Formats: sequence, C-alpha cells, structure tokens
Amino acid sequence: MLGPMNEGQRKLIVRLLPRLALAGLFGSALLIVAGMGLYWWQLQRAPEQPIAFPHTVHAGTLAIPCLHCHVYADKSPRAGVPTLDICMVCHQSIATERPEIVKLREHYENQQPVAWNRVHALPDFIYFTHKRHIKAGIDCFACHGAIATMERVGQVRPLKMGWCLDCHRTNGASIDCATCHR
Ligand code: HEC
Ligand code: HEC
Ligand code: HEC
Ligand code: HEC
Ligand code: HEC
Repeated sequence: MLGPMNEGQRKLIVRLLPRLALAGLFGSALLIVAGMGLYWWQLQRAPEQPIAFPHTVHAGTLAIPCLHCHVYADKSPRAGVPTLDICMVCHQSIATERPEIVKLREHYENQQPVAWNRVHALPDFIYFTHKRHIKAGIDCFACHGAIATMERVGQVRPLKMGWCLDCHRTNGASIDCATCHR
C-alpha cells in the first residue's frame, strides 16, 4: 500500500509537476488541432466525379460565367448542372482526344446524362431556394467559396442552421422558423 510520501518522493513530484502540466497542455492542444483537422477535412470533402471536370479551367482560365452552366440559379430553387450540349458546343472541337473528353462525347452520343456526385445537400426537410439569394445580389462565392480555384468542387461552408441564421440576421432577412422549415 502507499504510505505517506517521504521527502524524496515529494521533491520528485514538485520537480515533475510543471512537466506534467505542460504535457497536459500539449495533449489538449493536440486534441484541439486534431479536432480542427477533422472539421477541415469534412468541410473540404470533394467527391471524385465520373468525368474530371475542372472548374479551374472553365470558371477560372476561361472565365465562363457561372450562370452560363448553372442556368436555373437565378430562376428556381435549384441551380442545376449543365446539360451536355452546353459542353459539346466547345468540345466537338476542343481537346477531343483527351480521355475525359472521349468519355464526355460517349455520354453525349448515347444521350446518357453524366451521374455527377452531389457535393452540397441540405436535409430534405429544409426549404432553400437559390433564386431569392441570387436576386438579392448574393454572390455564389458567399456560400460555395472560390469555386474557380477548385480542381474538384468541395463543400467549404458548414450549411448548418447557425450559418444560415448568421447571414440572415446580418442582412435583415427572415429568421422565422417557417422560412426554412415548412
Ligand atoms: C462550363 C460549365 C460550368 C461553369 C462555367 C461552372 N460550372 Fe459549376 N459545375 C459544372 C459541372 C459539370 C458540375 C458537376 C461536376 C462537378 O461537381 O465538378 C458543377 C458543379 C458545381 C457545384 C457543385 C454542385 C453540388 O453537387 O453541390 C457548385 C457549387 C458549382 N458548380 C458552382 C459553380 C460556380 C460558383 C461557378 C462560377 C464561378 C461555376 N460553378 C461555373 C459546370 C460548370
Ligand atoms: C467555352 C468553351 C467550353 C465549354 C462550354 C466547356 N469546355 Fe471543357 N474545356 C474547354 C477548354 C478550352 C479546355 C482546356 C483544353 C486544354 O487544356 O487545352 C477544357 C477542358 C476540359 C476538360 C479537361 C480535359 C483534360 O483532360 O485536360 C474537361 C474534362 C472538360 N473540359 C469538360 C467539360 C464539360 C463536362 C463541359 C460542360 C459541363 C465543358 N467542358 C464545357 C472549353 C470548354
Ligand atoms: C445563400 C447561399 C447560396 C448561394 C448564394 C448560392 N448557393 Fe448554391 N447551394 C447552396 C446550398 C445550401 C445548396 C444545397 C441545396 C440543397 O441541398 O437543397 C446549394 C447547391 C448548389 C448546387 C447543387 C444543387 C443544385 O441546386 O443544383 C449547385 C450546382 C449550386 N449550388 C450552384 C450555385 C451557383 C452557380 C451559385 C451562384 C449563381 C450559387 N450556387 C449560389 C447555397 C447557395
Ligand atoms: C450569405 C448570406 C446568406 C446565407 C448564408 C443564407 N441566406 Fe437565405 N437569404 C439571405 C438574404 C439576404 C435573403 C433575403 C432575400 C430577399 O429579401 O429577397 C434570404 C432569403 C432566404 C429565403 C427566402 C425568405 C422568404 O422570406 O421567403 C429562404 C427560404 C432562405 N433564405 C433560406 C436559407 C437557408 C436554408 C440557408 C442556409 C442553408 C440560407 N438561407 C443561407 C441571405 C443568406
Ligand atoms: C434560415 C434558415 C433557417 C431558419 C430561419 C431556421 N432554421 Fe432550423 N435548420 C435550418 C437548417 C439548414 C437545418 C439543418 C442543418 C442543421 O441541422 O443545422 C436546421 C435544423 C433544425 C433542427 C434540427 C432538426 C434535426 O432533426 O436535426 C431544429 C430542431 C431546428 N432547425 C429548429 C428551428 C427553429 C425552432 C427555428 C425558429 C426559431 C428554426 N429552426 C429556424 C435552417 C433554418
């Protein structure tokens, strides 16, 4: 059994205490960093796509307007992904030999839409509409980040209720439950 501490043990503990405290601090710091890393990883998640479509080239280098492809963003709840005829206007003649463009042309010729993997998705019970936000002059950037610099699109905003409410409060938009929960 443990008896009362002798002088030597007491001194040892006093000497080690700062190190123990430091180790504890370091441990918590590590945990925090790991937690932040996990959060970051979740936010950055960017699924691989059936055709490696680079926004960097199209929205970046070529500076094609977002609405040229996401044609419903200012007209309806959903922004929509482009139909392949929009792509083929250029890719009938551009980079036709590249493997990704060969895939694209096969889909086009077989009239088989590309099954793009969804990146952003709210739960079904939420009402959201692009139209109102775009009409109010909110940039795609505010909710999707710098898409034109993304080789592969990932989610960089939390899309949580607190995030919606923050911006609604700042801009004097409705924070009535029924606005988003109908
Ligand atoms: C040449 C057509 C084209 C242009 C221009 C374009 N996009 Fe896209 N976008 C696509 C295609 C195709 C996909 C589906 C594949 C993918 O995710 O990369 C997509 C996917 C997305 C997604 C992910 C959708 C999801 O599932 O959540 C967002 C967000 C997006 N685009 C925003 C933008 C923004 C913002 C711009 C302008 C800066 C832009 N796009 C310009 C074609 C385009
Ligand atoms: C305004 C013309 C234009 C439109 C519209 C367009 N692209 Fe492109 N695309 C280009 C150009 C230019 C390049 C770069 C070619 C190069 O690297 O020389 C490119 C590159 C690509 C690449 C990369 C090819 C590679 O492997 O290097 C893919 C994939 C691609 N486009 C798919 C699409 C898809 C899918 C759509 C429709 C959603 C689309 N593009 C619409 C002009 C266009
Ligand atoms: C106020 C925030 C906000 C703005 C501004 C915004 N989006 Fe979105 N976007 C979202 C949310 C939230 C989702 C997920 C919607 C869902 O799951 O119902 C989404 C989904 C998407 C999708 C995939 C699903 C769909 O609706 O087709 C695309 C593509 C897209 N956005 C493109 C754009 C483009 C392009 C712009 C600018 C013209 C834009 N978004 C502006 C918040 C925004
Ligand atoms: C970057 C700022 C911003 C973010 C983020 C944002 N909103 Fe909005 N939202 C607005 C503004 C501003 C309006 C008011 C537009 C207007 O007055 O027409 C609005 C309007 C709306 C409307 C229509 C309101 C009405 O009165 O019918 C809905 C629904 C909505 N937002 C849902 C959402 C949801 C759900 C989210 C989160 C997933 C979200 N918004 C995130 C800025 C934002
Ligand atoms: C501007 C849009 C918006 C408004 C206004 C809003 N919510 Fe939400 N709410 C969301 C979104 C988006 C989610 C889903 C994401 C999440 O869980 O954070 C959500 C999720 C929730 C959930 C969790 C549901 C579940 O099963 O996970 C509850 C509960 C909730 N909201 C209650 C409320 C109440 C009560 C109000 C009014 C005081 C309200 N909300 C107002 C956007 C909104």
